[in-house]
Amino acid sequence: MKIYKAKDYKDMSRKAANILSAQIIMKPDCVLGLATGSSPIGIYEQLIEWYNKGDLDFSQVTSVNLDEYKGLKIDNDQSYYYFMHKHLFSKVNIDIKNTFLPNGMAEDDKKECERYDKLIQSLGGVDLQLLGMGHNGHIGFNEPDEAFEKGTHCVKLQASTIEANKRFFESIDDVPKYAYTMGIKTIMQSKKILVVVSGDDKAEIVKKAFFGPVTPAVPASILQMHNDVILVADEAALSKI
Ligand code: GLP
Repeated sequence: MKIYKAKDYKDMSRKAANILSAQIIMKPDCVLGLATGSSPIGIYEQLIEWYNKGDLDFSQVTSVNLDEYKGLKIDNDQSYYYFMHKHLFSKVNIDIKNTFLPNGMAEDDKKECERYDKLIQSLGGVDLQLLGMGHNGHIGFNEPDEAFEKGTHCVKLQASTIEANKRFFESIDDVPKYAYTMGIKTIMQSKKILVVVSGDDKAEIVKKAFFGPVTPAVPASILQMHNDVILVADEAALSKI
């Protein structure tokens, strides 16, 4: 694993955006695995800036997102579909037909998960997967558990995840209790993985995930087994290692 130390959130975003843009330049028709949350927002802003300068072209890029809340319609401003359109897709020349997320309104969980896994397979897998990490070490919405979940699945969110994400909703009762997420196997099959972490509130989990034992109790710890992972974290997030 390569670790790049950034000064702060802005520096982390710029360093990570450099890696994403290198991927797009090297393989213009790449499949990007994208993430939501506050960690990647700065990266998307930086990519948009470079796109506006004419340095980046998304016209042949395909994207698959990690996860989506169950029960939120695409026009709900807290759905990840809405997030991706607001923070990236509407601001660059990506072809919307080539952007994919799990369908939060699917009626049949099992069918939706199968559909999403097949879709990723049919695209030839993910070239570069961007990941943030939750305070409990979750990646996508793969919560701590007794075993690693393999494929796309529907998960019951942990109380700590609901608590962390309530800042985006009017009240905690509005935070969905379930979500669809790519599984650990799907994430681990990505050719390259880029993890971004910022802030001292994540310092403890960075230590556990990347320097502790590999365990499903800390889902991100499995990334230690991948042979092409880049962690870009700011000084605060790296303060305990
Ligand atoms: C959410 C998302 C994850 C994200 C995590 C951390 O639960 N499903 O993909 O990595 O939160 O979010 P943040 O970057 O806001 O700390």
